[in-house]
Amino acid sequence: MPYFSVFKSLICHGSKLLKTSPSGRLVNTAARCSVSLRVKHRGYDERRLPVSPPITSDRRIHTSSSVGHGEYEWEDPKSPEDIVNITYVDRDGQRLEIQGKVGDNALYLAHRHNIEMEGACEASLACTTCHVYINSEHVDRLEEASEEEEDLLDMAPQLRENSRLGCQIVLSKELEGIEIVLPKITRNFYVDGHVPQPH
Ligand code: FES
Repeated sequence: MPYFSVFKSLICHGSKLLKTSPSGRLVNTAARCSVSLRVKHRGYDERRLPVSPPITSDRRIHTSSSVGHGEYEWEDPKSPEDIVNITYVDRDGQRLEIQGKVGDNALYLAHRHNIEMEGACEASLACTTCHVYINSEHVDRLEEASEEEEDLLDMAPQLRENSRLGCQIVLSKELEGIEIVLPKITRNFYVDGHVPQPH
C-alpha cells in the first residue's frame, strides 16, 4: 500500500518579512514567499500546491522616533523652510519671540527657551498645567482638540474660548506667527489622583 508523506514548506525569498516601500506602504514580503504544501507520494508523484495569494496592506507602519521627549526641540531648523516664528507671553506679560521649527512641540520649545510653561505630566494628557491661550488669528488653525484635551480643559482654571493645552500644539508652517499666552495661574493635579513628587 503506497503511503504519502506530507511536507509543509515555507520558502521565503529575501531576509525580511516586512518592509516599507518608498511610499511608506507596509508590504508584507511574506506574501511574496511561496507558501507551498508539498505532497509527496514517494515514488509516484510530487506536486506543489500554492496556498496563499500575495497580500499587501495599506496600513502605514508607525515608527516612533528615537528622539526622546523634548530632544527634538533642541535641534535648530535645518532650512529656512523649516522655521516657524512663535511668540510666548509669559505670566508677567513679557513677550518672547522665538524661532521654532516645523514639528516642534510648544511645551518643549518653551522649556528650551526657559519659558515657564508647566508640563507636570510631560504631555501625556493627564494634567492642565500646560494650559495656554492662543491668539484669535491662529486658534482656528490648530488641529481640533481631542476629547481628552477637551475634558482636561474643562478643569483648567480661567478657561476661555481660546484655551488649549500647550503640549498638544505642534508647530506647522500654517502656525507661523502664533502667539501663546501663559495664564496667570495653573492648577497642578493629575486626573487619576496621583500627586507628583518633587524631583
Ligand atoms: Fe500635562 Fe500637557 S503637560 S496635559
